[in-house]
Amino acid sequence: MNDLVSVALLGTGSSLPPRVVPNDWFEGFLQTSDEWIRTRTGIRERRYAVESETSASLGIEAARKALANAQVSPEEIDLIICATVTPDTMCPANANRIQTALGCRAIPSFDILAACTGFLYALSIAQQYIRTGAARTVLLVGTEVLSRTLDMTDRNTCILFGDGAGAAILGASHKPNYGVRCVKIYSDGEAAKLINVPGMVSPPVNGEPMKEFMTINGREVFKFAVRKMAELMQDAILECRRMGVEVDYLIPHQVNQRIIDAALESTGFPASKVMVNLNKYGNTSAASVPIALDEAFSEGRLGPGKTILLVAFGGGLTWGSALITL
Ligand SMILES: CC(C)(COP(=O)(O)OP(=O)(O)OC[C@H]1O[C@@H](n2cnc3c(N)ncnc32)[C@H](O)[C@@H]1OP(=O)(O)O)[C@@H](O)C(=O)NCCC(=O)NCCS
Repeated sequence: MNDLVSVALLGTGSSLPPRVVPNDWFEGFLQTSDEWIRTRTGIRERRYAVESETSASLGIEAARKALANAQVSPEEIDLIICATVTPDTMCPANANRIQTALGCRAIPSFDILAACTGFLYALSIAQQYIRTGAARTVLLVGTEVLSRTLDMTDRNTCILFGDGAGAAILGASHKPNYGVRCVKIYSDGEAAKLINVPGMVSPPVNGEPMKEFMTINGREVFKFAVRKMAELMQDAILECRRMGVEVDYLIPHQVNQRIIDAALESTGFPASKVMVNLNKYGNTSAASVPIALDEAFSEGRLGPGKTILLVAFGGGLTWGSALITL
């Protein structure tokens, strides 16, 4: 282990499908309303992939933007990790497709499956490759087309999710007290049945309709999410105290405004320092945190020296956090 190496966040990118699906679209075929969805979730609209788009194609576009933003060329990438529960196929992995599309060398590339916490799992793996010297520059991608797993007759579930991709480039640095300071990831399969995404390929083979759909126990997941988000935040605030820094900005998994509000209330963390874009995109699972991170940069909310906290939780059940000094 090379303790001298810091793991810097060099750049981010994101890609959202052009098709905007507003809440009132569901009113046409479900007993629901824009008002119910807005007040219970904070979501106003979400994006759905158009027929030609897949989680790999969205991931490739997000990765290209992250490379440009980080001023890193595809040849410099030593490892690609893609977090997704909706890969184009189980084999090849989305990461293999991304590697080829970008024109990277014959580097390792693989997918990981940790639902909404997937990006933090990928970050945890990547930083260890860099700290041990096994890689210098790593591409992380979180990408989903959850719209293709939804039962459009289940109003409890289908209104919550959207499609999109986010990407980040991590690189070795010798700057002290910088970059990824701490990553913690967890899982507990005991309550796994609360969130279930069926095995599938995307787009559907031979145009066959889906036979299995995503199911969630929204009420139970809500309680789990509030509890875990508050615990992760309290723990990160203590870690920051030990390091003599503060959490300047929070980028949470974008799931439900009421979950975020409840966690902020129980930790006393100010809402003015929190990135929220779930109103525009709904829950994009593994893509949610990297999309929010990329938008926080592009909206000028983040700058050098700031310490940011990423938190996520979801299917598995899984949860995790990361502290990064920019
Ligand atoms: C799903 C969620 C928005 C529901 O909000 P809630 O306030 O907990 O609502 P409840 O489940 O208590 O349902 C209240 C009522 O609204 C109804 N309802 C559910 N979805 C509805 C919709 N889209 N439109 C109108 N009514 C709806 C329910 O059927 C229920 O009616 P009932 O009391 O007659 O049974 C919320 O629990 C949530 O966000 N959970 C987490 C989501 C999740 O699992 N994300 C994935 C993992 S990160």
